[in-house]
Formats: sequence, C-alpha cells, structure tokens
Amino acid sequence: MRLDKFLAAAGAGSRKDVRKLIRAHRITVNGSADLKADMHIDENKDKVALDGEPVIYREYSYYMLNKPAGYISASNGTHTVMELIRENDRDLFPCGRLDRDTEGLLLITNDGPLAHDLLSPVKHVDKEYLVKTEKIITEDDLKRFEEGIEIDGGETCLPASGYLKDPKTCILTIREGKYHQVKRMFEATGNRVVFLKRIRMKNLLLDESLQPGEYRRLSEEEEAGLKAGRT
Ligand code: URA
Repeated sequence: MRLDKFLAAAGAGSRKDVRKLIRAHRITVNGSADLKADMHIDENKDKVALDGEPVIYREYSYYMLNKPAGYISASNGTHTVMELIRENDRDLFPCGRLDRDTEGLLLITNDGPLAHDLLSPVKHVDKEYLVKTEKIITEDDLKRFEEGIEIDGGETCLPASGYLKDPKTCILTIREGKYHQVKRMFEATGNRVVFLKRIRMKNLLLDESLQPGEYRRLSEEEEAGLKAGRT
C-alpha cells in the first residue's frame, strides 16, 4: 500500500496532512525518515512511526457515540452526528438511525459489511431502549409488546420484551428497526414517548461515562463482541 494512503487510513491526517509530515521527516519506516509519499510499504510487516510513536493500521474504525438530541443520524447535511466526530478516518458513517430527538448509543464506523449485518432486517439484532412516557405503562401494554403489537398502517412488530423501572419508565428490547418503531409501539397503546435513549445494540452497551455528544473508540473486546456469530 502507498505510504500516504496507509497513514491517512491509520488516522494520521488527510492525504495532504500526511505528505507534510513525510516532508518534515516526522514519519519513519523501519527507522528511516528518507521517504516518499508514493512509496509502497507492507502494512503487515513494516514498522511505521509518527514522532517515534507506532502508527497502527486498522482496516476499519469503530466509535461509540452517545448521541445528543438535536442531531440527525446522517452523513451529509447540517446538524448531523458526523459533526461531532473529529477523526480523520475515511468514509465514516452512522450505523443505523436514531430520530433527531433520540439519544444514546450510535455506532460510527466505516465497516460497511458489519453495518449491513447489524442492520439487516433478517438478522434481528437486539436494540435496547430506555423509554419514558407521558402516561403510565401497564403490564398489559408490555404483554401486547411481547405478543407482537400491531402499529399504525397495519404492520405487526416482532415480539419485544420490556420491564418497568417505574410506572412511566421502561426498558424495551426490540429486534427490528421499523421507522419510529418504539414511538409507534407506544402510540398503539394510547401512550406517548417523551424521552428515548438507546442503551444497547447486540452486546454493545452504551458507556454511561460518555456525556451526550461524547464518543470513544470501541475496545477490542467490544469490537469482537459486535462481530461475534457473523455468518
Ligand atoms: N424507535 C423510535 O421510535 N425512534 C428511534 O430513534 C429509535 C427507535
């Protein structure tokens, strides 16, 4: 792979930035700083460093964002979640959609195949939400969710499991991603969602130490957990 491409893909900066680093002799390959941007390196063998610190190549990047309300889950446009991500990795995008007013766990990645698996309607990946509602949630509402509730437009949801935290707060796990699904499920019971936060996707838990708008790279265990069981 070309050195400048490698450095940009590893997050050292844009192609333009990394060429400047190379010219400034801040990059070394196997200890040598006499380099050209278009030279080829073996990303699995050669030892690349920036200011003496190893540059690790990752094919894909994975970040957990605690999405704040007020941002849209899109790559382009204004007020998108991507405005919160200050990384140079190429082609990052939000994996899935949360409504503008929904908060919580959003995976930001450039791993298209993994995103496809996590979002595929046939894979039924768990998504767990903290839901606060206007009116009391009854045991009968939760039973209807468990049986597969019919929402507006005549669509029937897959069984969803929920439990109460207090009379107007529940933890709900759904296994599909219909448009505004949680809100429409509660509407079908005559209730209204007033606060919605995603707290888990598959086995990835929202790191509650992240304030809304903050993000961090996934740990190796978290990344492996998301990839586990892929067919
Ligand atoms: N269900 C909703 O209604 N909104 C979301 O953002 C996510 C799930």
